[in-house]
Formats: sequence, structure tokens, C-alpha cells
Amino acid sequence: MPKATYIETEGKVHELDLPLGATFMEGAVQNDVKGIVAECGGSCMCATCHIYVDDAFLELLPEMEEEEEEMLEGATAERTPNSRLGCQVRISKALDGIILRVPGEQ
Ligand code: FES
Repeated sequence: MPKATYIETEGKVHELDLPLGATFMEGAVQNDVKGIVAECGGSCMCATCHIYVDDAFLELLPEMEEEEEEMLEGATAERTPNSRLGCQVRISKALDGIILRVPGEQ
């Protein structure tokens, strides 16, 4: 299973093995990573699964769909070039070792 490292706002690190195809949001929620709220359950309707992806992996991510783009515009924490919605990106072999940081607010 590919690995993903989540870093909570307070600095707590979770090194997790995620099943192929799981979203970053599912990986966080199922493993008690604090700060990923996922209010809408993954329907791209809330932006409370906002996450910052490490620079080294940005180019490997799938392109953002318009829906995700629009939801990120309304995200509570600052949107940066590293911002993605955790429910819209799935772990893959290519993303093995990815590092994800949780914003300070959702
Ligand atoms: S869980 Fe609501 S937008 Fe991702």
C-alpha cells in the first residue's frame, strides 16, 4: 500500500499506509488525523478537507476539476498553490510517500 504522511497543524505526524484508490480525506478521517473535517462526506461541497500538498508531489497530482477549483476559492484557510481538497485526490502508486499538511482552520 502506498504511504502518505500527514502533518497536523500542531506538528503531530501520522505515517499511514493507504489502500490504493482511497482519497486523502478518507485516509485522514479513518486514521484520526485532526483538522480534516469533511463535513460533506466527500461530495466536493464544503472545502473542509482542504490540505496542502508538498511541493515535490504537486506535478504528480491529477488536474483539478472546476468544482474543486470553485470550492477552494471559499476555503477558510489561505489558498496556496499547494492547496487541494482531500476528497478529490486519490492515493496512487505514483504518489507513494506523499506529504500532506493540514491547514490551521477549515
Ligand atoms: S469533504 Fe467536503 S469538499 Fe471534501
